[in-house]
Amino acid sequence: MIWNELKKPFLILAPMEGVTDIAFRQVIAHAGRPDLFFTEFTNVSSYASEKGRANALERLKIAPTDAPIIAQVWGKNPEHFAKTCAALQPLGFSGIDLNFGCPDKHVNKAGGGAAMIKTPELAIECYRNAIKSTDLPVSIKTRLGWAQVEEYKEWLSTLLNEHPAALTVHLRTKKEMSKVPAHYELIPEIIKLRNRISLKTKLIINGDIKDYAHAMELYRQYLKIDGFMIGRGVFQNPYCFTNHTPTKEELFELLYLHLKLYPESGSFEPIKHFFKIYINNFPGASAIRAKLMEAHSKEEAYRVLKDIDESKSVVE
Ligand SMILES: Cc1cc2nc3c(=O)[nH]c(=O)nc-3n(C[C@H](O)[C@H](O)[C@H](O)COP(=O)(O)O)c2cc1C
Repeated sequence: MIWNELKKPFLILAPMEGVTDIAFRQVIAHAGRPDLFFTEFTNVSSYASEKGRANALERLKIAPTDAPIIAQVWGKNPEHFAKTCAALQPLGFSGIDLNFGCPDKHVNKAGGGAAMIKTPELAIECYRNAIKSTDLPVSIKTRLGWAQVEEYKEWLSTLLNEHPAALTVHLRTKKEMSKVPAHYELIPEIIKLRNRISLKTKLIINGDIKDYAHAMELYRQYLKIDGFMIGRGVFQNPYCFTNHTPTKEELFELLYLHLKLYPESGSFEPIKHFFKIYINNFPGASAIRAKLMEAHSKEEAYRVLKDIDESKSVVE
């Protein structure tokens, strides 16, 4: 069981829609992998429908460097949770995570993500359908509540009463989005809840954790936490799971790798969101980024990089 195999305190790359796809996970694995990866979330009703399945399976593709990796799913239809979770084991996942925390308005309108906080009975039905359809461990990722921080007492207790394999708490409410600092002050109370209700559930803390050093600092303060999940920290430093501060050359190497792994088919636009991760914080970086933003294909991006290389202004 993966959650018992991880050495405490373990680090996880947070699931991030449009970010932590198969290509980016390989880039992070190259820089310095976390102990555990999560996929971006996949909708259970997409998987359950003939029409949506191919797309769902595409999102669930994994690379050898991903293992161990957890498949994250979302939705609101208990039957579809059962059907999707039953199909995940042969795909090579070490576990399944249920997203009960996404604040996206389309997701919430469809009754999924953080909307589950407002329908706890349905959330539990989905969870129970998931566990009965698979031998894989099932975990949950959620927020403190929908509108009020105090909701965490009842909501997290409801979830812990089901004894999930792991519970990741993003220390904000849905209403707070990511606009206020994560509520680290609640960690001691959340630890108490976990210890009282479900000691076997691994407790993972998420929100504003920058890197390995920051996670270790929190761990020294709160030794009962099992793991830490880092999301946007990878944008500041893709080496955030290590103690390493990358050189400019190492970041360029990651950009080359990302371009290589980026699919040939489809739009070139989405990869542009990543350029700032690799080309940042050195004189001339914004000019290089501006040139790269004009590229429409991998070839054009390579050409921009080659020109820089030849001028010897950036990469030696
Ligand atoms: C672009 C983006 C996409 C996200 N997609 C997901 C997702 O698919 N599933 C999920 O559980 N959380 C998702 N999240 C939330 C993150 O997993 C994480 O909980 C949040 O960013 C707080 O952690 P951080 O402060 O370390 O970034 C997403 C966040 C961002 C910024």
